Amino acid sequence: MPSAEGLEKYGWETRPAEAPSLRAAMGLFPTGVSVVTTGNGEGTEAMTANAVLSVSLDPLLFLVSVHKDARLNTRIREEGYYAVSLLAADQEGLSRLFSSPERSSGLPAVNSLGGGFGVTGAPLAAGAMAAIECELETVYPGGDHALFLGRVVAVHMGDARKGPLVFHEGSYPALGGAAQSGGEFGAFVDSVRGFDARMGRRTPRGGRG
Ligand SMILES: Cc1cc2nc3c(=O)[nH]c(=O)nc-3n(C[C@H](O)[C@H](O)[C@H](O)COP(=O)(O)O)c2cc1C
Repeated sequence: MPSAEGLEKYGWETRPAEAPSLRAAMGLFPTGVSVVTTGNGEGTEAMTANAVLSVSLDPLLFLVSVHKDARLNTRIREEGYYAVSLLAADQEGLSRLFSSPERSSGLPAVNSLGGGFGVTGAPLAAGAMAAIECELETVYPGGDHALFLGRVVAVHMGDARKGPLVFHEGSYPALGGAAQSGGEFGAFVDSVRGFDARMGRRTPRGGRG
């Protein structure tokens, strides 16, 4: 492993490649928040997760990463499907509930979710912005987590007007402020093409979006 030297002058503080370092770095990366569910009725299991990823559009594939000791891990393997409800800004309480080790499984969980049942039978979270249902395709080992790759079988759009619930540095900040104000922040010069790309402005030839 080559050693990184002289990085201080670029403003880097190199830390040991250990769990607290990775946790601290990724804490700086804001994510949305979801509740992943499987089973139904008394067999319902639900857990808050932000390690969710849209993997492929053709075919439609989706991934959730679940800790090996989480109740949800065993239950997704048994049921072979899961639903991912993407939480809205006013659903911090639901996120806290389903990330609590003391929470109930089964019917109390169904009552807390309250959003009906998808085509897989998994319960959905009422008031979520959207929900994605998957049939389990493959489980990949991921150290102390398992990666559940699913084939998307249904997409439900809810009310997105409230915007997303955001998780950042261990808390749930409100979205807004600087990111929407425009201005000169984010200016970046491409050293080959020489253009000055600023957030919120389209380049003349357009991008992919
Ligand atoms: C915002 C947030 C995101 C989380 N994301 C994940 C995740 O992607 N995967 C995971 O296994 N646990 C995640 N957790 C932790 C679990 O929700 C929590 O540890 C839960 O209690 C695990 O289930 P268990 O009680 O059955 O062990 C997250 C917690 C929070 C607050």
